Order: sequence, then structure tokens, then C-alpha cells
Amino acid sequence: MDPIEYRPEGVFLEKTGISREALLQLGPGLEAARSETQADLKAWTAGHPPAPDKDPLDAGFINLPERILADYRKRRGQSELGRVLATADRLRETVDRIVVLGIGGSYMGARAIMDACCHPMHNELSRGDRGSRPRVYFDGNNVDNDATQGLLDLFGQNGSFEQPEGRWAIIVVSKSGGTLETAVAFRQFLNLLNSTLKSPSPHTLGDLVVPITGAHGKLHDLAQALQCRDIFRVPDGVGGRFSVLSTVGLLPAAVLGLNVVRLLEGAVMMNERFQNAAVGNNPVLDFAGVCHLLEKERGASTRVLSVWSKSLEAFGLWYDQLLAESLGKSERGALPLTAVNTRDLHSRGQQHQEGVRDKLITNVIVDKCRRDPLQVGQSQWNQDQLNALADKTMPDIMRAAIQGSNKAYRDDKRPTADLHLPCLDETTLGQAFQMLMLATVVEGRLIGINPYGQPGVEAYKQNMHAILQST
Ligand code: PA5
Repeated sequence: MDPIEYRPEGVFLEKTGISREALLQLGPGLEAARSETQADLKAWTAGHPPAPDKDPLDAGFINLPERILADYRKRRGQSELGRVLATADRLRETVDRIVVLGIGGSYMGARAIMDACCHPMHNELSRGDRGSRPRVYFDGNNVDNDATQGLLDLFGQNGSFEQPEGRWAIIVVSKSGGTLETAVAFRQFLNLLNSTLKSPSPHTLGDLVVPITGAHGKLHDLAQALQCRDIFRVPDGVGGRFSVLSTVGLLPAAVLGLNVVRLLEGAVMMNERFQNAAVGNNPVLDFAGVCHLLEKERGASTRVLSVWSKSLEAFGLWYDQLLAESLGKSERGALPLTAVNTRDLHSRGQQHQEGVRDKLITNVIVDKCRRDPLQVGQSQWNQDQLNALADKTMPDIMRAAIQGSNKAYRDDKRPTADLHLPCLDETTLGQAFQMLMLATVVEGRLIGINPYGQPGVEAYKQNMHAILQST
């Protein structure tokens, strides 16, 4: 398993950046935050009620990958992961499309996994080219009338379950079980599915609806009423945006035929580095330390995650939510921003190069493409003058763009750091998810902000419900 590497050399700048010494000096503080994170996990495991300033304490995500894997190795088919794999196999054999309904942490991780690890045109491929893996769509993450109806049109177009291509299923994810956006969409898709199933049918709603939810709540009750064959739990002590490596992300990934054991093993690998490596050589502590120092010392309150792959846009958006909901509290917290490059060099690039000096740019660089490099090649129509670059490949051009933009930032004394992913696969992604979740928690502990919970989200919900009831 190749490790991902965090290389922050581009932040070591005089006056506008920080020094390596400053990062090392922060070492004891970062190590204390790491110890606190471990102590939190112990307290949570022991079931101790959290202190008021640590409530909620959703530390359960930290060793979740180890726990899931240990259970799987011991109990195989009887374990939670064994059940996830069996349900994924069943769905793959039965249906051609799946809609995953959920919002925030209940879908962003699954979307990030799909986009990073599947064929970029997965849903457009024939069933054969997809290896019989279902097409996967996401909804229930908005109340956008036309968007939901567009997807309902697509799912309703075959009209019957007679043909394999016409068969579809729903995975509905809500930890609380009561989130309005997801619940409204679920009702629409459930009604459509019900009307599509002609009796007598070998398939029932209970076979084709797979809920992932908490131990109690409206979705749990609905799942019981529908007699759902498989119901999965969002584990206790794991908050929505920290749940990507629970059934919330694992079931959609397994349905897509991805290797979920490798996802978890990648996260375990990151946990080991986090616990054992010293500052200066620890991706979690170094990332948290660099981000913190740049914000505190240089006012870098905008954190640009500059992903150099289209397949990582959803991963960037997953991180946007993680940082924003975890540390955006008490009138504090940096602003996360995902840029997809080179695309956004032609939109945001100008501002990043010459705008307000309030940004730390973290490049996420994929070192090895999945496919053979595409060469520019010779052409008889050389009006574009590309024959001069005929032997260059797309990865060569990407590398030049990364080096060129980093040099331009450095020449103007703008800080950058690089996060190198050896390739885009499950192991790499598992490491990256765990690294950023741990770094967010460490930074929260370092600055005295509880990274868990999202009390601010309640205000809009209460107003929205009051308005709906009064009109
Ligand atoms: O991080 C979080 O906890 C939130 O973003 C939730 O995931 C989101 O609000 C959805 O909540 P639920 O899963 O209860 O529907």
C-alpha cells in the first residue's frame, strides 16, 4: 500500500508564510491535541458522559475502520461488513439503477468515493461495460422540484420490472431519520417504485428499499412498516460528516463493486501514522499545524483545496462540509473552497494569484493516472501549432501546470502545500478521508472548538418548519 504524502514546503516563506521551526515549535501543542483525541475516544468507548464543552462527543469514527475489519475477520457473513457485502451483491444482481437519498454527511462521502474510484462515465456505460454494476444517482439532498422530477422521469421511463434494465432500488440514508429534504424525496421515489411493481411480482418494496439510519426515528419506523429486508445502522458516536467509512459510504461503494476492505485498510494505515509519527513527518499533525499557523499568523482564513483531477471534485466538496460544519463555530473557522484544476485556473485562478492575501492553497495531486497517457501526437492540421508538443502527454501537461502555478504563487510569496495521492483507488481514498477527518478534530482541540455537532444548522430548520406550518 503506497502512502499518501503531505509536503508543505511551499508554505515556508519569509514574511507571508511560516517557518519550518514554527511548525516544529507547535509540536507539543499538536501532540497534546492528538493525546486529547485519543482520550476522547477512550472516554467515548467507556461510555462516560462528555463534559458540557465536549458535548456531543462523536469520537467513534476514529477507530471505526479497525472495529469494522476486526468484526468482519471474526464473524465474516454475520458481521456488519459481511451483511453490507451480501446486500450489495443482492442489489447488483437484481437492479440496474440505484438512487441514494441523503443530504450532507449522509451522501457526500459516497458521492466522493464513486467519482474518485469509478469510471468517469459509469452511469452512461452499458450494463456489460459496467460489469453488471448498477448505475448510481444521488437525490434527497435538496428540495429542487425540477431536479427531482428529472430523476423521477429517468427512473420511471421503463415502466416495469420485467426487464433487468427497468429494475431499480433505493438506498435511503438519514441518521436522524427526520431530515425533510431526504424524507420528501424518499416519499416520491417510494411512490414511483410502488407503482412500478406490478403484482404478482417476485420483488417487494421491502427487498428494494435499503435504509441506513439510527436506532430510532421516523425512517426507522417507516423501514419497519415496509418490512425492509436489510436495514443498516449509522453507528452510534459517529457524526454524519465523519460517517463515510461506516455503512453510509461502504454500502454504496460495495454496490459499485469497489473494494471496501481496502478503503478501511487505507484508513487504518493513516491511523497508525497519526498515532506514531512525530510532527514534521505526520500528515495529520502537519496538515492541522500548517493550516492553523497560516490562519493565525498570516490571516489565511480561506483554505483552497485545489484538486488536480476532475474525479476529486466531490471529494473536495466532502471536505468543504467537514471543515465548515466542524470548525465554523463561535464566529471562527476558516472558509473552505474547492477548486478543480486546471479548470478553475481559468475562473478562480486570477484571484488566487493576485487577490487578497488570505489564502492557503493545498494542492491535491494524483501521481499516477489509471489509464495510459494520452499523447498530443502529430497532425496534418497544424494550424494549432501543437506538433511542437507532439511527444507530450496529458499527464506531462498537467505536471507542467501544477509546477507552473506553484512557481507563480511562490514568486509572489503566496503559500501552497501539496498532498500527493499515489493513485486514485480505494486504499488511497481511505487514507485521505481519515487524514482529513483526524486533522479537523485535532485542529478543533488545538483551538478549543468542539469539532462535533452542528448546532447552527438547527436555526434554518426551525424557521422552515414554522413557516411551512403557518402558511
Ligand atoms: O454532519 C452532519 O451530521 C450533517 O451534515 C448530517 O449528515 C446531515 O444534516 C444529514 O442528517 P441526517 O443523516 O440526520 O439526515
